[in-house]
Amino acid sequence: MAKQNKPKQVPDTGYEWDGIRELTNPPPRWWMISFHASWIFCIIYFVLYPAIPLVNDYTKGILGWTQIKEFKEAVAENDAIKAPYLKKVAEMDGQALMADAGMRNFADSSAKAIFGDSCAGCHGTGGEGAPGLFPNLSDDAWLFGGDFDTIVESITDGREGSMPAHIDTIDEAGINKLADFVIAAAQGKATPEGLAHFNASGCADCHGEDAAGGAINDLGSGAANLTDAIWRFGSSKEEVLRTIRYGVNEDPDEVPNTRIAIMPAFGEKLSPEAIKMLAVKVHQFGGGK
Ligand code: HEC
Ligand code: HEC
Repeated sequence: MAKQNKPKQVPDTGYEWDGIRELTNPPPRWWMISFHASWIFCIIYFVLYPAIPLVNDYTKGILGWTQIKEFKEAVAENDAIKAPYLKKVAEMDGQALMADAGMRNFADSSAKAIFGDSCAGCHGTGGEGAPGLFPNLSDDAWLFGGDFDTIVESITDGREGSMPAHIDTIDEAGINKLADFVIAAAQGKATPEGLAHFNASGCADCHGEDAAGGAINDLGSGAANLTDAIWRFGSSKEEVLRTIRYGVNEDPDEVPNTRIAIMPAFGEKLSPEAIKMLAVKVHQFGGGK
């Protein structure tokens, strides 16, 4: 008779369910090793690191590690790497900064976050602006100027281009003729009579005798070039009529339909280095002069 392969006799715990006995075999070796390693790890961790919440506090651990401390150390490390570059930014003028490819890249990339925080809300992440509200910084049409120093000035002191309302000083027929002239000028179809009327109406004082905005831009008044196809506020006759009738940045209590165009000043909010780096970024958008 074949020998029956009997299971090894192991004492049981005395518990039995449906004929299944619970034996007193020890847990497998690998399991015991992991188990002991785990609690030893926990104790070491609890001793070294912050771990147990108390009523108003927590156990700190002997290493004194905190997330904030680690973050601050990383920031300090980063600042230390940037410090020599920032010193150079402070010392270099715009021309030198723009001419040095390494510094230009440093400024452009360092200004990315500042532009996102302080400027993109109005001018868009790529400086594309918003029609009728905020000027495009990435084209080569400028109200105040696209050279480095003028951009720095725009950011530091802010801008508030102003154009008077003409509804009380020019009659409706005259305003209508001016709007037709401005629309024609933007399409390169200005007539000499139109330009003469424009000059006689006092518009040239700010927009220049050729309506190209150029002359007065040197004075920094921000008067738009009216001979390009780039519109600050809108090209429809209705929009042009509104600008001529109600002007720009008149007191809105007196002239409710005036256009509001205010660039806030950042001279007190941002460091001179940050403003220089922003100017590089704006210049690099593509329209810098
Ligand atoms: C609250 C909205 C707003 C914010 C924020 C803002 N701008 Fe402006 N910005 C304007 C407006 C509006 C104008 C046009 C002013 C005018 O028409 O007189 C302008 C004009 C400018 C100009 C002049 C453009 C030209 O054609 O000459 C520059 C340069 C400029 N902004 C850069 C910046 C930078 C850089 C920042 C961030 C530090 C910034 N702006 C933040 C609204 C804003
Ligand atoms: C005191 C200076 C001043 C005078 C005078 C003036 N303008 Fe302006 N004009 C401006 C400025 C500044 C702007 C741009 C405002 C801005 O974007 O901040 C402007 C903008 C405009 C625009 C909007 C252009 C666009 O791209 O949307 C039109 C149109 C215009 N002017 C027409 C006229 C006409 C027509 C006259 C004469 C009746 C006139 N302006 C007189 C300063 C002036």
